[in-house]
Amino acid sequence: MMSPNFSFPVKPFFVLAPMDDVTDTVFRQVISACAPPDLCFSEFTNVEGLLNSGRNRLLRKLERHPSEPPLIAHIWGLNPFDFAIIADQIASGSLADELGMDTNFKGIDINMGCPAKDITRMGACSGLIRNRDLAAAIIAATKKGARKRLPISVKTRLGYSDIEPEWTQFLLKQGIDMLSIHLRTVKELSLVEAHFEELTRIKKERDAIAPDTLLVANGDITSREQGEKLVEQYGIDGVMIGRGVFQDPFVFSKDSPWTELDPNAKLKLFIKHLQLYMQWTDQGDKGISRLNKYAKIYVNGFDGAKELRIKLATTKTIRQMLDYVEDCLTQIKKREFVEVKNF
Ligand SMILES: Cc1cc2nc3c(=O)[nH]c(=O)nc-3n(C[C@H](O)[C@H](O)[C@H](O)COP(=O)(O)O)c2cc1C
Repeated sequence: MMSPNFSFPVKPFFVLAPMDDVTDTVFRQVISACAPPDLCFSEFTNVEGLLNSGRNRLLRKLERHPSEPPLIAHIWGLNPFDFAIIADQIASGSLADELGMDTNFKGIDINMGCPAKDITRMGACSGLIRNRDLAAAIIAATKKGARKRLPISVKTRLGYSDIEPEWTQFLLKQGIDMLSIHLRTVKELSLVEAHFEELTRIKKERDAIAPDTLLVANGDITSREQGEKLVEQYGIDGVMIGRGVFQDPFVFSKDSPWTELDPNAKLKLFIKHLQLYMQWTDQGDKGISRLNKYAKIYVNGFDGAKELRIKLATTKTIRQMLDYVEDCLTQIKKREFVEVKNF
């Protein structure tokens, strides 16, 4: 029976994709303040690590701020027994309590799509596409641990080396509540266009095998409008967007103002992001490489943008990053003032 937890008041629902080292609680807060998705995934978190001395460090990946949309705990690993223990901790609410969260996670998602070589070599994540017995055991163990207190979902790809219809059919037979599909094979990484046409077949299979399983499409979707068209064309339930947020943090909005925003507004948003990150992190300046990844989103469209990005890339502290961005904002404002005066 479908858990009520995955019922969305409106369909289609829009989801922010998990992106490791990117979609942490701070970035999700920034995106939610721009235009919130209906649902977010946490960064992917290793179940074995949560059960050893790495727990405290890994727990940060599961943190959620009250201002964020509902959050799915996105987990990965190899040992079904560990999945069962962690699923119990998540579904009982004890893990959320440990994190001081005001509400529990909305569900538990199992990663069966990550193509990173060091992970697939172990047989985890997309490696499970080649080991169906283990994939089934992990889903069963996660369901057993959750004991129907939370819905269970899987995020995967179309196949390993080739598109494998048996893989999606197999997953639909496992009694999961939601299936999110990145419409490429593992081998394709993100190097070819997403195979949207596969949605016709997958939707048919979903309707025949598991009509209660929500179907979410992912890959190369860069606007809400494009997502809505896919829903209309293929009858899917939800749309997941990942890298689209880099081009437009308002990507979940019906009417994104991003391309019209002046550089000042973009830099102010970056300052907000940096300030929130400083408040959140107790890692000192270790997160600095992560913050640099975001610079391209906000620092563009004005004279000196490239120079500022280069400067930020060599910055050693978050405080210094903030100073550079604030200085730049002041310079732009001064320039504008002179331009207006000379007009
Ligand atoms: C930097 C980065 C990190 C990612 N990390 C994860 C992850 O931890 N788990 C996962 O299932 N997918 C991960 N993905 C894949 C995305 O969730 C998504 O499936 C993929 O980017 C295709 O969607 P898009 O074209 O909307 O970005 C990652 C992608 C990127 C770019």
